[in-house]
Amino acid sequence: LSLWRLFEKRRMCRCYLDLPVPRALLLRVLEAARRSPSAGHAQGVRFAVLTNQDQRNQIATVFGEEAYLKRGFRAWLSTAPVHIVTAVSTEAYEERYAQPDKVTEPNDWPVPYAVLDAGKALMSLYLAAEEAGLACGYLGPHAGPDLVQMFDLPEDWMFVGLVTLGYRDPEVRAKTRSERLGWRDFDEVVKWLS
Ligand SMILES: Cc1cc2nc3c(=O)[nH]c(=O)nc-3n(C[C@H](O)[C@H](O)[C@H](O)COP(=O)(O)O)c2cc1C
Repeated sequence: LSLWRLFEKRRMCRCYLDLPVPRALLLRVLEAARRSPSAGHAQGVRFAVLTNQDQRNQIATVFGEEAYLKRGFRAWLSTAPVHIVTAVSTEAYEERYAQPDKVTEPNDWPVPYAVLDAGKALMSLYLAAEEAGLACGYLGPHAGPDLVQMFDLPEDWMFVGLVTLGYRDPEVRAKTRSERLGWRDFDEVVKWLS
């Protein structure tokens, strides 16, 4: 698929088929994320991947899937075949920015570059998934407990969200909220300064 087709087609997915994701495709989407740009080429974005049903249920429970079901939604987290706990390693940035070619350090940054890097890496992951016929969802860290702590991942990892990955259930055709909202006008989003 052309890149433009991927931009058009990609939507967050919260309804998956009960089908595992082949390992080769999983590796491919993670590799796309690994190759994304990062501040100072620090490459601080980290992923912890899990497919085990018990662990997925555990995540669904702590993120309140039951309340989600009661509101009439279909199960999302427990049924997504792959969960990717996404984090940024603060150590990776501190190490890189302590090197002599760097003049700032992470605490000086006017915006959190590590978090920007995570956003870039996830967009690459989403598009690679779309190209592979897969779909992704994203749940912000506001929505539940710190999964880095819960899974005993390295202490310097900062949890930035949970990505779900799998095959979209084509039976679910209701328009998503973003489809109902549509896109802001180009001129509202882009200003020409010269
Ligand atoms: C920073 C960020 C946080 C988000 N948090 C959530 C979330 O907690 N739960 C959720 O269902 N979707 C979440 N989303 C998905 C957005 O709702 C979705 O990307 C947006 O509505 C546009 O829809 P689309 O990606 O399908 O085009 C988040 C997306 C981003 C970029």
